[in-house]
Amino acid sequence: MDARAGETDGRLGQSHVRVEGPDKVTGRARYSSDLTGPESGTAHAALVTSTVARGRITGFDLAAAERVPGVLRIFTHRDFAGAVAPVKHLMAGGYANSSHRPLDSDAVAYAGQIVALVVAETLEAAEAAAGAVTVAYAAEPAAGGFDAPGAETVRLADLKPHHEDIARGDAEAGLAGAAIRVEARYATPVQHHNPIELFTTRAAWDGDRLTVHEPTRYVGAVQHGLAAQLGLDPAQVRVVAGLIGGHFGSKFALSQHTALVALAAKRLDRPVSLVPSRRQCFTIANYRPESRHTIRLGADRTGRFTALVHEAETVTSRFDPFVMEGAEVTASLYACPNIRTAERAVRVDRNTPGPMRAPPEVPFLFALESAVDEMAVALGMDPIALRRINDTAVDPVSGKPFSTRPLMACFAAGARAFGWSRRVPRPGSMRDGPWRVGLGCAASVRPVKIAAATMRVRLDPDGSAEVACAHHEIGNGITTLLALGAADGLGVPVERVTVRLGDTDLPAAGISGGSSTTTSLMSALALGCGQIRQVVAQAATGQGGRLAGRDPGTLRLVGGRLVAPEGTGIPLAEAVGSEGVETVAAFVPEGSDRETALKGLRGGHIGLSLGGAGKAVSWGFGAQFAEVHVHAETGEIRVARLTGAFAAGRILNPLTAKSQLTGGMIWGLGSALLEETVVDGAAYRNPDLAEYLVPTAADAPEVEALLVPDPDDRVDALGLKGLGELGIIGVNAAIANAVHHATGRRIRSLPIRLEDVA
Ligand code: MOS
Repeated sequence: MDARAGETDGRLGQSHVRVEGPDKVTGRARYSSDLTGPESGTAHAALVTSTVARGRITGFDLAAAERVPGVLRIFTHRDFAGAVAPVKHLMAGGYANSSHRPLDSDAVAYAGQIVALVVAETLEAAEAAAGAVTVAYAAEPAAGGFDAPGAETVRLADLKPHHEDIARGDAEAGLAGAAIRVEARYATPVQHHNPIELFTTRAAWDGDRLTVHEPTRYVGAVQHGLAAQLGLDPAQVRVVAGLIGGHFGSKFALSQHTALVALAAKRLDRPVSLVPSRRQCFTIANYRPESRHTIRLGADRTGRFTALVHEAETVTSRFDPFVMEGAEVTASLYACPNIRTAERAVRVDRNTPGPMRAPPEVPFLFALESAVDEMAVALGMDPIALRRINDTAVDPVSGKPFSTRPLMACFAAGARAFGWSRRVPRPGSMRDGPWRVGLGCAASVRPVKIAAATMRVRLDPDGSAEVACAHHEIGNGITTLLALGAADGLGVPVERVTVRLGDTDLPAAGISGGSSTTTSLMSALALGCGQIRQVVAQAATGQGGRLAGRDPGTLRLVGGRLVAPEGTGIPLAEAVGSEGVETVAAFVPEGSDRETALKGLRGGHIGLSLGGAGKAVSWGFGAQFAEVHVHAETGEIRVARLTGAFAAGRILNPLTAKSQLTGGMIWGLGSALLEETVVDGAAYRNPDLAEYLVPTAADAPEVEALLVPDPDDRVDALGLKGLGELGIIGVNAAIANAVHHATGRRIRSLPIRLEDVA
C-alpha cells in the first residue's frame, strides 16, 4: 500500500485510506458483472419484463427473437413452471427479497415482472432477442398506490406480528390542553436504488455443485434460499460476492432472478451471466416506497411538548410483508407525556419494496423534524432551543435510559461550525443579491444494530495474518477496519494482514445491513484476536516456555513480539510456533441467546439485535444544518452548504467515517430536491438516470461532517455504534426548514421543486 496524505502507521482510531481503494480506482477490481470473458465460456442472459401491471399471459411470439444470430434459448413459464420451490421473504423467516416467483405461471402480478429469460452467445444478441419477443396479455385493473381502487390498507401488526402501535398517556387530552398545536400532513415519494454495479447474477455448475457470483449483501441467505428453491443441500451451493458496487439497502438477500439463471445454466450446460438493464432494475429489485404522515404536536407556552401523534402509511406489495416501521423512533425522540402512533401498510400491485439507507428514518424524520420546525415558528422560538427544552435522557416510551444522549452536543457543535448565530429568525429576511437565503436544521437519529458473526483469524510465524468471514465489503471500508483491527490486535503491520470476505466457503456472518457491520465484525475480530493472544500467551508462560511463570493475561502482541508489561518479550516466530495459530471466533451480542443466534447465522436467516442489550436505548445521533439559496425570480433552489455533526460511539477510522457521512448528506440533498420515481397507473415512468435525478458533482454543495465524541460503555463491549446510515437522515427536513426560512413557504411533500417556491 502506498503511503499518502492522511495515512498513518495503521492503527484503529486514526485515519487510513481504504485498502481496496487502489484496485477500484485503477480498474483492477473485479465485480460480478465482469466475470464474462470469452475464456469463461459464459453465455449471456437478458430479461423480458411485463408491460401490463396485472393479468395473464395469453401467448408468446418468439419467432423473430429466435432468428437473432447467437440466440441459444428463450425460457418462459412453459419451461420453468414448478421448477423453483417457494421461499419466504427474508423478513418473514425466509431468504428472499421478494417471494414473487417469475416464470412460474402465466400470472402477472406487477408491471416490469420478469416474463422471459433469453440466453445467447453475446450480451448484444441476448438483448436484441429480448427486444424482439412479443407477449400477449389479458390485462386486469391494477392498484398502483395510495387511494387507488383496490389498494388494501392493513395494520402493520397484520404483516409483522411483533409490531405494536404506541399509546402512552392521553394524546387527545394532551393536544386539547396544548397552548400551541401544529397539525400537518407530509409526504415522501418512491425512490429507487441506482447502484453502479447492477443486480447481476452469474451461475456455473460443476456436476451437482453450483457456484453463484452475485453482488448480494447476504451470501448466506442466497446460498440457503437457492438450495431450498432448487432442492439442493446448502453445501452444494457456493455464493461469492466480491466487491458489491453499492447496495445501500438493495441487494438485500436472494434475488428473484437468481434461480432462473441457475436453471438456465443447468439446462444449457454452461455458465450463464445476467446483467439486467438499469430500467429493469427498477422492477426486479427493491425500492423505497412512498409514505404519508399526519403529525399532531402540542406544546405549552414555554415550548414543552404536551402531546405527539404520528400516523403514517407506507406502500408494500400484495405478496410480501416488507414494511418500513418508523414511528417507534419518532415517538422516542423527544420528551413528551402523551404519545400515540398508528402505522398502516397499503398493499398495491407493485414489486416488493425494501430497505433504502435509513429506511424508516429518512421519511419519518422528514415529517417529525418539519413539524418541530413548524412548532418553533408558531412559538416564535429558535428551533435548536425548542429541541433543547424537549431533550430527554430517558426514552419516553419504554422509560429506559439512553446509553448516551449527545443530541444537543451535536446541535451545539454543528451550530458553531455552521454559523447558526448569524441566522436572522424571521423567514424571508436574509438575502444575497437575487437569492433569498435560508438556514435550517434537523435532528438525525438511528437505533444501533448489532449481529452475531463468526470469523476465522490466523497469525503466522512470518508476521502475516489473515481475517476471513462470509460478510461483505459494500464500499463502507470494512476491509480496511478489519485490517487495522487485526494489525492492532495481533501486533503486525497492517500491510501484512489479508482480509477475505464475501464467500460462503468462509465462516458464516450475517447481512450487511442496518449499519451493523462495524459493530458486529469488529466485535468478532476482537474476540478472535483475544483468543489467539490467549493461546500464544498460555504456551509461552507454561512450563519450559520463555516467559514461564508470568501471568498470561498480562502479555500483549505488539510490534511482532509477545511482550510482558515490563518489556521482556519473545519474537512472534517463536511465540506462535512453526504452524501458526488459527481460531474461529463466534461473537454473539449480549442479551441474545447464543445457540439461537449462531443457528440462525449458519442457516442464512436475518438476526439483527439492538445495541444496549435491552438495558438501555442506544442510538447514533446527529444534527444537520443546511443553507439554501432560492432565486427570488425563478424559484431555483441551490443548497450552498451542508454541515452535519454526528455522535456515533467510538470512531475507528475518521477518514472512512466522514466519507460515509458526507456521502449520506449529499444523498439527503437528493432526497430533498431531486429523487422521485413517478408512478403512473401502476408503472414507473422514469426508470433511468436521465429522468430519475440524483445529485451530480455540480449539485453537491460544500459539505462538512464533524465527529462529536460519544464514549458509550453500554451500547456494546467496544463502544461501537455504526454510522453508515446516520449521514442521510434529517437532511431533507433541514433543507425543507431552510426553504421555509428563505421564503416563508412550508413545503410538506418531497421532492421540493422550484414551482413550489417560485
Ligand atoms: Mo440498510 S438500508 O440495511 O443498508
